[in-house]
Amino acid sequence: MTEMTDTIDTARPPAPAPLPVEPPKGCPFDPPAEFGALRAEEPISRISLPDGSWAWLATRYADIRAILGDTRFSSDTTLHGYPLSGMTGGASTRNRGFIRMDPPEHTRLRRMVTREFMVKRVEALRPEIQRITDELCDVLERTEGRTADLVEALALPVPSLVISLLLGVPYDDHEIFQRLTGTLLSRTVTDTEREAARVELRDYLDRLVTAKEADPGDDILGRLITEQQRTGEISHDEVAAFAALLLVAGHETTANMIGLSALTLMRDPEAAEQLRRDPALIRGAVEELLRFHSIIRNGPRRVATVDVEIGGRLIRAGEGVVAAVPSGNRDESVFADADRLDVRRPNAQHHVAFGYGIHQCLGQALARVELQVVIATLLRRFPAMRPAVPVEEIPFRTDMAIYGCHALPVTW
Ligand code: HEM
Repeated sequence: MTEMTDTIDTARPPAPAPLPVEPPKGCPFDPPAEFGALRAEEPISRISLPDGSWAWLATRYADIRAILGDTRFSSDTTLHGYPLSGMTGGASTRNRGFIRMDPPEHTRLRRMVTREFMVKRVEALRPEIQRITDELCDVLERTEGRTADLVEALALPVPSLVISLLLGVPYDDHEIFQRLTGTLLSRTVTDTEREAARVELRDYLDRLVTAKEADPGDDILGRLITEQQRTGEISHDEVAAFAALLLVAGHETTANMIGLSALTLMRDPEAAEQLRRDPALIRGAVEELLRFHSIIRNGPRRVATVDVEIGGRLIRAGEGVVAAVPSGNRDESVFADADRLDVRRPNAQHHVAFGYGIHQCLGQALARVELQVVIATLLRRFPAMRPAVPVEEIPFRTDMAIYGCHALPVTW
């Protein structure tokens, strides 16, 4: 019997490695080096997961779009085989938000807020976003010693103020939800700490929604309460789940893109000069920065609901898949010289940084306007801004689901 077990053990394929997360040494802006080799040699490979199980890892652009564009792959984190990363944002199983749901539930809920994030609606916010940015830049300009942490001074407050305003969340509470989303998205906290943060965020939002039920206000949560909750379409808990999803998705992501983009342009004076000389380039440059940085480093993730063939590989029902967006966005078969930042790249907008298919980022128009406004303003108002420490001393977020810098000390 012992002999038999030994034989089976030896014949087992080697356990796959976990999802690569470390950038190559000295290249903090690049995705893990392993992705290049995987795209060339084993575009659909296997990785191990924190719970000891395994999932498929898709690294080519075409396969990533095929998976994310195919509703036979589910986003439901409660399904058997869903590849849990150990940090699925605010996603408790009870109230997980439509990002973790499939049609028809996903379609029904997403439709309730789609118009709030449409291009026309968001474009109308541009002057307000510019005003918020200008005010923060005024404070920055007056900072004694001409040094500051750009994350704290600008990158976090702009998206945080904007999403709080849109949702109708008191901005004074931003420290609470920033601390809580930070814990939820960290790779290094314990399960107990994450669960405690989840409960605290749920209780906070529960109280917030209760307060807004009495006095809804002219904002997204207020409209959800008057138009959907009061007509019986959704419950109190579902309004709170909307708030959790939009708060978490709406500020950490854009904040990290602002920090990384500012730093890249400080280190690439030629690109910065091109943008200063021709401000019309900013839209394309933001697409290129989104492609280049691909801040969502651990997914998106799906589980196959039936057997599906992707890139010549059979993925069986119940098997999990991780779509490596940072790898797809550096796929040379789509983006020539993909590891180079080129603010004039003609097809940068084809990136998958916002995902693809029915779950493609709801807030992308808002993220784009925030990035365009903040980056253009920084370039114009602080042409001499540079990192205040050597790049090796900048704390990059290799410990988080969303890549970026924890802090960015700058001087000007
Ligand atoms: C640079 C900033 C951002 C990036 C890179 C980003 C990225 C993404 C990605 C990759 C997805 C797809 C997830 C999946 O397929 O499972 C997604 C979904 C989503 N994003 Fe964003 N996002 C950003 C900003 C925002 C903002 C500002 C909001 C505003 C509220 C937002 C709200 C959402 C929501 C609600 C979903 C779920 C959509 C659905 O499931 O139908 N995101 N985002």
